[in-house]
Amino acid sequence: MTMQPRTLYIKTFGCQMNEYDSARIAELLKARSGLELTTDPAQADVLLLNTCSVREKPREKVFSQLGMWRPLKEARPQVVIGVGGCVASQEGEGIRTRAPYVDLVFGPQSLGRLPEMLATVWAHRKAVVNVAFSEIETFDRLPAPHAKGPTAFVAVMEGCSKYCSFCVVPYTRGEEVSRPFQEVIDEVTALTSQGVREVTLLGQNVNAYRDGPADFASLLAHVATLPGIGRVRFTTSHPIEMTQRLIDAYAKIPTLVGHLHLPVQSGADPILERMKRRHTVSEYKAIVHRLRVARPSLCLSSDFIVGFPGETEQDFQDTLDLVESVGFDHSYSFAYSPRPGTPAAEMPDGVPAEVKKQRLARLQAILNAQAVRISAAMVGTVQLVLVEGLSRKSPAWIAGRTENNRVVNFRGDLGSVGSFVEVKITEALPNSLRGECVR
Ligand code: SAM
Ligand code: F3S
Repeated sequence: MTMQPRTLYIKTFGCQMNEYDSARIAELLKARSGLELTTDPAQADVLLLNTCSVREKPREKVFSQLGMWRPLKEARPQVVIGVGGCVASQEGEGIRTRAPYVDLVFGPQSLGRLPEMLATVWAHRKAVVNVAFSEIETFDRLPAPHAKGPTAFVAVMEGCSKYCSFCVVPYTRGEEVSRPFQEVIDEVTALTSQGVREVTLLGQNVNAYRDGPADFASLLAHVATLPGIGRVRFTTSHPIEMTQRLIDAYAKIPTLVGHLHLPVQSGADPILERMKRRHTVSEYKAIVHRLRVARPSLCLSSDFIVGFPGETEQDFQDTLDLVESVGFDHSYSFAYSPRPGTPAAEMPDGVPAEVKKQRLARLQAILNAQAVRISAAMVGTVQLVLVEGLSRKSPAWIAGRTENNRVVNFRGDLGSVGSFVEVKITEALPNSLRGECVR
């Protein structure tokens, strides 16, 4: 066996959660298997594909990517090819039936086992498949993360037990599993010692967090007061678990950002019911009202699905009305697409593709117009900005983010990276803001 450092190439399809998993995989394989990341797949000794199947039909994408990697393995047979994430957990051994040159198949919960799996492949030249769900291992065995700037993500829970009728997450990532309270605190503390000032607590449903008597509100309160932490965000949360304790956090915790991503999916009760979201439109509005009592300036964003089976023009209109009445900021919206194995996939899909497409465009036009209005209203105000680095616009400029996640470019130097500065917003552009540092 050669002792030269081996290299790793990871390709990620999917959401923030998958990006986060890929970063942890890279850290783990560096610490335990000595793999250095490379940006060139042709040079890599290990090629991993980390996939997501929430909204797209990734199966074909996966096999076409694997097809592109196949010649690399033919040229250098010692190359190891692996597939992880949702597609892996859905297909398991099936991946190798269609692509026998794949050496490793791992699910979102077997990441921690990758070094051993890889060692087996190296030692015995034999394929390893592990897509099991294992509660104790979900967060175990991962090394301490390395900060890559003043902001960082920290997973607090994994999986989802809500079983919305359209969604594959509970089947691919498993049920909700919370990470031990002290482990989260230790990880945030370790990150602050590396210069992190802002953390985003991450999970499919962070507000389902539980560890003994501690709920998400108490975790948040603890994290927010750790020395060095100047700002806390979290994503995603489910409306049915927006407890009063969590709502009160918006009044009590100044470092909690005035921005909340709270997926609603639809503004029509019959659709919410068939989606199994377990709340009504008026209950959602009541939560928003209570949140704004706690934090009047709160900015809200959301996820929407248009064209769910049976969605009428009136149902869709009700969604547009909700969007306007809440005044949502930048949000994510998707045309419904059936996911095999979910209950909604069995419902007769009454909405033609063309109608879905038009509704999506109408919804996005309104959401974009609202986001533009919110940006425009920020001109002239002073915003607290965490400086993240040089601006992409000019080397004499630096850039950071506002509480409501807008990039602000302004004159300054790299010395202020990692500091919170007050910036007066002077101009709102389509994808960013410009400003002047006032303090
Ligand atoms: N945990 C979050 C929540 O509380 O809803 C979001 C989970 S999911 C990874 C992200 C978003 O993808 C959902 O909020 C939904 O809008 C969208 N999504 C999930 N399944 C979908 C499907 N079958 N078709 C279209 N969009 C879908
Ligand atoms: Fe999916 Fe609903 Fe959970 S959208 S991630 S089943 S809350």
